[in-house]
Amino acid sequence: MRALSGIQPSGKLHIGNYFGMMLPAIELQNQGEAFYFIANYHALTSVSDPNKLREDTLDVALTFLACGLDPEKAVFYRQSDIPEINELAWILSIVTPMGLLERCHSYKDKIAKGIPANHALFAYPVLMAADILSVQSTTVPVGKDQKQHVEVTRDIAIKFNNQFGKVFTIPEAAIRSEVAIVPGIDGQKMSKSYDNHIEIFGAKKATKKRIMKIVTDCAELEDVKNPDTCNVVALYKLFASDTDIATMEEHYKAGGYGYGTAKKVLFEAMWEYFAPFREKREELENNLDYVESVLQDGATRARTELTKTLDAARKAVGLC
Ligand code: ADP
Ligand code: TRP
Repeated sequence: MRALSGIQPSGKLHIGNYFGMMLPAIELQNQGEAFYFIANYHALTSVSDPNKLREDTLDVALTFLACGLDPEKAVFYRQSDIPEINELAWILSIVTPMGLLERCHSYKDKIAKGIPANHALFAYPVLMAADILSVQSTTVPVGKDQKQHVEVTRDIAIKFNNQFGKVFTIPEAAIRSEVAIVPGIDGQKMSKSYDNHIEIFGAKKATKKRIMKIVTDCAELEDVKNPDTCNVVALYKLFASDTDIATMEEHYKAGGYGYGTAKKVLFEAMWEYFAPFREKREELENNLDYVESVLQDGATRARTELTKTLDAARKAVGLC
C-alpha cells in the first residue's frame, strides 16, 4: 500500500480537517508507504495574499507534524518544491474530457458562491490527479467531499493507460465512514469557508467561545433532550471515550442537563485531546530549521518517485 494525500494551506486547520483527513493519514503511515504534502499550488485558487499563503503553508507544516505526522515514516513535502508536477498535470489534461471537469461538485459549488471561474479553478482536479498519480499511490485518505476528485483521477488514469499503455497505478479513496463529515458549529459541514469551524490550535478563550456558540435546539434546561440530533454530542463523540459518551447521552435523556454544561464538557475534552500536540507544536515553532529540513528532504524523496513516473509518461506520449 502507498498512501498519498494533500491539504491546502488556505486557512488555519480545523477539527474537520483533523478527523476527516489528517488522523486517517497519520494512522496510515504505520501501515505502508505514505506521501503527504501541502497543496500550495491548489491554494492559489483561493488565496490571493502572498504573505498569508506563506504563513498558512508554515502553519500546515507545524500542525501536521505536531499532530503526529512522522517524517521518518511518511514523506512530507510542499507541492511547489516539485514544480515538475505541473508537467505531469499537462500531460494528463490531454486525456481529460471537459465534461468530466464540468461535472465536479467542488467547481460548481465555488462558482455558485461567486468565485470567478478561472482556468486554475476548473483544472484543479487535473493537478490533483497529477499529485496522486505522480507517486503511483494506491490509497488516498480524504474526507468525503474529495471523493469525486479521486474518481476523476481514476478516470484519467484508466483513459491514459488504455490510450498509451500502462503508466499509472489506479488509486482508491480511503474514507472513514464513522467521521465522514464533521459538523461545524452551525450544524453544516465544518469548513473554513463557512466560518463555522473550530481550529485545532486556536487560543483557549477563542476556542471556548466558539464551542459555546454551537447551535442547538431551544429545549429548556429541565427538558429531556435528544442526543442523536445534537451537534454538541456529535462533536463530543470525536473526543470522548465510549463510557463518557454514554454518560452524556444519559444526561440528555434524563433532562435537567443544559446545553451550556454539555458544551463545557466538550471544550474540556477537546482541549485535553490536543494538549500533547500543542506542546509538540511549541517545540516545532522554536525549531523552524528542522521543519524546513523535513520539507526539503521530503521534496527530494517525492521528486525521485515523480521523476520515474514523469519519464514513463513522457515516453508513452512521445515527448522522448
Ligand atoms: P475546508 O472545507 O475547510 O476548506 P479543505 O477543503 O481544505 O477544508 O479540506 C482538507 C481535507 O480535510 C480534505 O481531505 C477534506 O475532505 C477534509 N475535510 C474538510 N472538512 C471536513 C469535515 N467537515 N469533515 C470531514 N473531513 C473534512
Ligand atoms: N483538493 C484537496 C482538498 O481541498 C487537496 C489536495 C490536492 C489533495 N491534491 C491532493 C488531496 C491529492 C488528496 C490527494 O482537500
